[in-house]
Amino acid sequence: MRTILVSPPLFLFTLCLMLGLSKPDPCPLQDYCIADTNNPKALFLNGAPCINPELATPSHFFTSSLSKPGNTSANQFGFSVTLTNTVNLPGLNTLGLVLARVDIAANGIVPPHAHPRASEVTTCLRGTLLVGFIDTSNRVFTQNLKPGESFVFPKGMIHFLYNMDSRNPALAISGLNSQNPGAQIASVATFASKPGVPDEVLTKAFQISSQEVAKIRRNLGG
Ligand SMILES: *[C@@H]1O[C@H](CO)[C@@H](O)[C@H](O)[C@H]1NC(C)=O
Repeated sequence: MRTILVSPPLFLFTLCLMLGLSKPDPCPLQDYCIADTNNPKALFLNGAPCINPELATPSHFFTSSLSKPGNTSANQFGFSVTLTNTVNLPGLNTLGLVLARVDIAANGIVPPHAHPRASEVTTCLRGTLLVGFIDTSNRVFTQNLKPGESFVFPKGMIHFLYNMDSRNPALAISGLNSQNPGAQIASVATFASKPGVPDEVLTKAFQISSQEVAKIRRNLGG
């Protein structure tokens, strides 16, 4: 019988690949790294530089930035997302997480979008939400959420939150496992990018006319 030997370089390469694929934000090498937002970005870091740990105070780990509703009239979809970040909550720097407050107007929607760097668990606090995501085999998973109920969107998957109530706003809170999850709304990225994706790419990709491309662009503010 022949034994299949994996050469050490190949083994190391595979190991690195596996670790790389499942890696969250880099692990902190100290208790915390309070973001030094006063210093200009003189160099590019993966995150923000830290202040001297001896200068840390409770206020660095505190924020009230999610206490007020966002303005759901600021976009045509009727949603507002307020995120904690290294500016309003400098103590979360390097810890690999953020919290998001999601306000959705009556019949408003957070349109299909993806976070390239984070999975998200959302909890409905007020109202009735229809949430869902689409996996890489184009299978869709949907669920109705009442207050207190949660749903998880795996990292990178396109997902949405729709307020089914035509009279009352909805509120959800989401945790994401990156300090910089990133967000791409599929329709806006495709039809309202700056500069625009060439017309012939969109007419071919969506099997529509250039008039229809122009209409969608206009609707989305492209
Ligand atoms: C919300 O946004 C809309 C549209 O930009 C604006 O007209 C309105 O004044 C804003 N409301 C508040 C409370 O900021």
